[in-house]
Amino acid sequence: MSQAPAIHTFTDAQELTRAAAGLFLEVGKQAIAERNRFLVALSGGSTPKALYSILANDKYAQQLNWSKVHFLFGDERSVPPTHADSNFAMANAILFSPLHIPSAQIHRMRGEDPPETAAAQYETTLRHLTTAVPGQWPRLDLVLLGMGDDGHTASLFPGTASLTEQTRWVVPSTSPQGTRARVTLTLGVINHASVILFLVAGRNKAAVVRRVLEQRPGDPGPYPAALIRPETGRLLWYLDRAAASELTATTDD
Ligand code: 6PG
Repeated sequence: MSQAPAIHTFTDAQELTRAAAGLFLEVGKQAIAERNRFLVALSGGSTPKALYSILANDKYAQQLNWSKVHFLFGDERSVPPTHADSNFAMANAILFSPLHIPSAQIHRMRGEDPPETAAAQYETTLRHLTTAVPGQWPRLDLVLLGMGDDGHTASLFPGTASLTEQTRWVVPSTSPQGTRARVTLTLGVINHASVILFLVAGRNKAAVVRRVLEQRPGDPGPYPAALIRPETGRLLWYLDRAAASELTATTDD
């Protein structure tokens, strides 16, 4: 039985970012203490940029043994790693380069390859990295997620085949709005993580936040973000006040 999400509302995106950085360090320190490494899947999009930037800042950077951190990605756009739309390019500029993270600790999805090829290659990478037993899902320590205003998360979009994948760890995907192909972790991988953290900010997300977190009968089909229900891990939603503004009951952190 999955646990109910822990919903935390913060005054603004800056407070949300500071709290997210604190959680990132807390989960990382615990993973390193217990397993001598920290497997974290980064989110793309704009919301996490401030988090990546603050983590690269001395005050936070000094608090974690980055040599034990392995960076994965929740999804990637099918573009080269230097492209402006690449999630890797964003994280590399804001986080990996400032922290001088060795390439051996960065496991990017190969957006430059055909999506099917990139998905198969990434699943192989994940299997080697997690030494998961065949038939078992890998257990990542932390998965960072955002949510689009259509309720998508990672590159799991409403009404797509990626939502019903039961065995593959990584699959090709396509955003219904755009023509751009993508590659994404599947629900099975994400839902087996120890900690899943949604970072959602902005008034434009308020309606979908309510629908996802306060699903009522008759709401349109399952929003991918509503399908994120970890088996045994912790699910946290960090919202700013604007994104939480349509929830019926919220308390500020
Ligand atoms: C991506 C992300 C995607 C993102 C949401 C929210 O590659 O775009 O994985 O799921 O998290 O679209 O994006 P914003 O943070 O920019 O609102």
